[in-house]
Amino acid sequence: MKHILQELERRRQGARLGGGQARIDAQHKRGKLTARERLELLLDPDSFEEFDMFVEHRNTDFGADKNRIPGDGVVTGWGTINGRMVYVYAKDFTVFGGSLSETHAQKICKIQDMAMQNGAPVIGLLDAGGARIQEGVSSLAGYGEVFKRNVLASGVVPQVSVIMGPCAGGDVYSPAMTDFIFMVRDTSYMFITGPEVVKTVTQEDVTPEQLGGAKVHSSKSSVADGAYENDVVALEEIRRLYDFLPLNNREKPPHWPTTDSVKREEPSLDTLVPENPNKPYDMKELIAKIADEGDFFEIQENFARNILTGFGRIEGATVGFVANQPMVLAGVLDNDASRKAARFVRFCDCFNIPLITFVDVPGFLPGTAQEHNGIIKHGAKLLFAFTEATVPKITVITRKAYGGAYDVMASKHMRADINYAWPTAQIAVMGAKGAVEIIFREDAKDPEKIAARTKEYEARFLTPFIAAQRGYIDEVILPRGTRWRIARGLRMLKNKQIPQIWKKHDNIPL
Ligand code: HXC
Repeated sequence: MKHILQELERRRQGARLGGGQARIDAQHKRGKLTARERLELLLDPDSFEEFDMFVEHRNTDFGADKNRIPGDGVVTGWGTINGRMVYVYAKDFTVFGGSLSETHAQKICKIQDMAMQNGAPVIGLLDAGGARIQEGVSSLAGYGEVFKRNVLASGVVPQVSVIMGPCAGGDVYSPAMTDFIFMVRDTSYMFITGPEVVKTVTQEDVTPEQLGGAKVHSSKSSVADGAYENDVVALEEIRRLYDFLPLNNREKPPHWPTTDSVKREEPSLDTLVPENPNKPYDMKELIAKIADEGDFFEIQENFARNILTGFGRIEGATVGFVANQPMVLAGVLDNDASRKAARFVRFCDCFNIPLITFVDVPGFLPGTAQEHNGIIKHGAKLLFAFTEATVPKITVITRKAYGGAYDVMASKHMRADINYAWPTAQIAVMGAKGAVEIIFREDAKDPEKIAARTKEYEARFLTPFIAAQRGYIDEVILPRGTRWRIARGLRMLKNKQIPQIWKKHDNIPL
């Protein structure tokens, strides 16, 4: 009996070494952890249960049969994060560069199937070169199976991808179909084809960092939702994110104990909005003062910074915050901001996370750059996303809500449940200057008349009261009491249900 147990241990030890000590050392030298070290940091201590440790590939082409490594380049299984179940896979770069073979794909598919069946998220840690070239169409078919499950699981369980090394081909396309992608600075890259292929095809000389580094994807392409300085910080942050996510689409968001009083007043909010309507203020300050313990997990912090998206909690339960940011481009809605917020709103709606929207928006950004890049369609994405969302929706207008952007930003007309305005709110088709120039064109040459008309317009339209008279605003509230009003609103909306007209699915303007 003893030798049987020893044999098991010997085999396990072998599998744990992956591609061997030299490749593990090379991984460390590049500032990266191994697949198993990463899982140890991601999951609660001793909670990881591994599946398919002894799976090997079956390929015989190009001498592949002489290189069979138990586990075949991916570590899969399940564990817990702060006690809540999660399915995981971590690509092992030390084995064929983490590339995907037929059997490697079967391992990932197994946990994707379990996740959908048992209702728990999937987190993938990627550090891999895509389809295993030696396996030809078998590896492409393997990816097809993984992609298919990414799509089937979308909206059923949250899927999170963490890019922790150079990733190409299928190892970027599978993440692209998950809910969130995070990267590690300086050691992770994402591209369809690497710099060498780029050079051959387009004669462009680019480094991996320029082509698909964390900075590019988290601030320019918006492929990534965030970037962290190293593996350890990235995995700590994923644990933090996980605490905000429900396990599946049938569950309410998790509830964590909090010592932050729900009735906490914030007198400083009464003076957050400056008297000068053209002066910016930091909307992040408002979110920090509303959320439990000021805890805000921002999504896409460095992309389209004119809108803020991210998770926080009210009374211990997750909410999604969407807020115009007056500090950047005066909080205007443009192509990037619309796409960013629409995707976030849709995630929250998939997973029963209530939406809290703070509005200070001067309108849509005009100009050829925006129009030629499709602002009509991109802006419509956000309008569509807010309207189709059936989760509890509470909106607070802090200052400007002008034009179409008023409608878009979770207005009453877009099925928001509770619409509050601060006394500083200005709900109108446009600001005073533009309005007066158009409707009083005949007075344009008379500064005195224009000043009087402007005053008249401001007094009449740049307030919350016309909207409140019509019931588009449910209540004009004191800024200091906003947290309590939102919390009470969420209590009231706890059992919200909206009957839906039957349809197969909608057709959001993609
Ligand atoms: C087999 C691979 C591999 C692959 C890397 N390796 N990628 N083996 N199939 N796809 C192996 C290398 O041969 C090497 O083995 C080891 O992994 C480490 O790779 P290096 O190149 O030394 O590492 P590095 O310089 O860091 O470069 C990493 C890399 C590069 C950027 C990922 O290896 C690369 O460009 N690989 C090919 C990427 C690619 O074109 N994949 C196919 C995509 S098509 P040794 O034994 O020498 O250490 C695809 C289709 C899916 O995925 C469908 C999409 C829609």
